[in-house]
Amino acid sequence: MGFPKIRMRRLRNSPAMRRLVCETTLSVEDFVYPLFVRDGEGIKEPIKSMADCFHFSPDTVAVEAAEVAGLGIAAVLLFGLPREKDKLGSRAWVEDGVVQRAIREIKKEVPELLVITDICLCAYTEHGHCGVIKDGKIDNDETCKLLAKIALSHAQAGADIVAPSDMMDGRVKYIREAMEENSFKDVAIMSYAAKYASAFYGPFRDAAESAPSADFAGTSLCDRKTYQMDPANVNQAMAEIAADIEEGADIVMVKPATAYLDIIYRARQRFDCPIAAYNVSGEYMMVNCAAAQGLVNKEDTMMEMLTAIKRAGANIIITYFAKEAAKMTSK
Ligand code: PBG
Repeated sequence: MGFPKIRMRRLRNSPAMRRLVCETTLSVEDFVYPLFVRDGEGIKEPIKSMADCFHFSPDTVAVEAAEVAGLGIAAVLLFGLPREKDKLGSRAWVEDGVVQRAIREIKKEVPELLVITDICLCAYTEHGHCGVIKDGKIDNDETCKLLAKIALSHAQAGADIVAPSDMMDGRVKYIREAMEENSFKDVAIMSYAAKYASAFYGPFRDAAESAPSADFAGTSLCDRKTYQMDPANVNQAMAEIAADIEEGADIVMVKPATAYLDIIYRARQRFDCPIAAYNVSGEYMMVNCAAAQGLVNKEDTMMEMLTAIKRAGANIIITYFAKEAAKMTSK
């Protein structure tokens, strides 16, 4: 029985045969490209902690967005670096805020490109937390009110999808209600539903200047563990995702991606809405650094990583590799 009737290698004998039986194909439609926008004009500065990534200003990000759209990528995800931070993060919801301006510039330049915006306070608050601090704690419900204000201001500027990344309870409900009440019923919500308290966000926090303040060393506010999830938990991720769908999320996200493929897989088995996975800055830089040292081939490692994320069940992959991967998939 079995061998030699069964020879698995028959199906691996040539590139054409391998293509024929290939079970997972990456395509440019899978990718979302994150962009960092800073207040100012004419800015295009390399980000030190993240290879091939830049800080743009609202005018230059529109040019970059046009290039991204030209590669066939359907959506960008915007992160803002405000000109000033304060206790509440009030530059996050003002009409002339950096993201609000960037949305308008991009929509002028490339109206067909989907604009997704990160909804969070961490880059806008002096203390670097994703929520309002009251009596030494992150105040969940007060934070939700501000998140809804941010989301509404992005919708008013023309955002297609708002993506809350703060991990407060109930934020999707608050945001969905704000959209309904203000005639933005078609603005979609992509919630960072299962977002883990991960060390893989390191390079991003440098790029977005959004790390919790060093003044919190030794206190319960020294990290994001009172709101982001414990990497050891999986059932809790399913409960987080179910809650966000119930509150009105259209797309749910698992983040990070590569070390959390089991979460993506389980979510895909269990829920029917589109599932996004965020291939985060640390995953991106591990490949870049290993490649720079000649330890791995960058393109091959990148494509293997992205294929694994898709194979696990992600429908949307948010990745700093999007432009390079888009070029590879169209080859
Ligand atoms: C902000 C936010 C973070 C990331 C996306 N949105 C950082 C964090 O939660 O500290 C990480 C993205 C990445 O590492 O690429 N809430």
